[in-house]
Amino acid sequence: MNPEELRKKLVVGVAGFGTMGSELTAALAAAGFRVIAWNRSEERFEKLVPRVRRLISRQQNHPEEHRQRGLKLLETTTNLERLAEARFVVENLVEDRAVKVDFFKKLNQLAHPDAVFATNTSSLPIAELAEASGRPGRFLGLHFFNPVTRMELVEVVRHPGLDESVLTMATSLVEAMGKTPVVLNDAPGFIVNRILVTMVNEAIRLVEQGVASPKQVDTAMKLGTGVPVGPLKLLDLVGLDTHLRVCEHLYEKLGEPQFAPPELLKRLVKEGKTGRKAGEGFYSYR
Ligand SMILES: NC(=O)c1ccc[n+]([C@@H]2O[C@H](COP(=O)([O-])OP(=O)(O)OC[C@H]3O[C@@H](n4cnc5c(N)ncnc54)[C@H](O)[C@@H]3O)[C@@H](O)[C@H]2O)c1
Repeated sequence: MNPEELRKKLVVGVAGFGTMGSELTAALAAAGFRVIAWNRSEERFEKLVPRVRRLISRQQNHPEEHRQRGLKLLETTTNLERLAEARFVVENLVEDRAVKVDFFKKLNQLAHPDAVFATNTSSLPIAELAEASGRPGRFLGLHFFNPVTRMELVEVVRHPGLDESVLTMATSLVEAMGKTPVVLNDAPGFIVNRILVTMVNEAIRLVEQGVASPKQVDTAMKLGTGVPVGPLKLLDLVGLDTHLRVCEHLYEKLGEPQFAPPELLKRLVKEGKTGRKAGEGFYSYR
């Protein structure tokens, strides 16, 4: 299907409306897709829908006509059955295996048999989730980056049971969103997190060991390596709780010490300092 046909025919479901689900909704709607966004409670919609609407309007890299269509057709719901209308559902729930498995099992009961399921997990094995979903051939990983409305990369994660036509459809969707897919085989952390998590953990350890402050670490990395944002500022954007879960999953699978979550990370999460979304992490946003 060409991008115009895809836009007209494909209804996309977005499950979860936190940091990633809300941004992904804005990115899809701005590209002209009809989006049905589901979340288990209204609260997130009340907090985030005005921001999502602003984000859709402001994405000038998409034609006005696409943005208007996406805005007009955007639907938010707490009723899981509404996702039955979507033929492509991207899941963005908390990084917890049991929560995701339970969601896909329920979705599988009510979705159209041809519907494709994708997970935005950062660290859980795609093949395991695919098997648990009850439709492995129509299940894959689509790993977006934060903030989705600005980041161009999408890691498209295949596994041995995946139907090739589903892979083609998923890469076409990513391209119709104006993004670049990189297809890879299922492996812990995929490409980017396998490298990034170790860098972020070392940045946390430098602060933990009193070598430098968060600002000094970020300034050094920005000016010394040319990254646009330092690792600890980035961590605040990602969410310290999400990063902690990713470290735990990668450490469990790979067993290498660089993936073990640093003590300072665990302490900050326990104190509720989960980053920008909480108003405080390595920096204060109050
Ligand atoms: N934050 C990032 O930078 C980033 C980047 C790429 C991928 N991801 C992945 O995206 C997914 C979501 O991460 P996030 O940062 O948006 O998290 P978040 O904490 O901002 O949002 C979590 C979402 O899960 C929902 N949720 C929590 N518990 C639930 C339950 N028991 N049942 C149903 N829904 C539940 C919440 O309502 C919310 O919509 C995770 O798998 C994460 O690994 C995150």
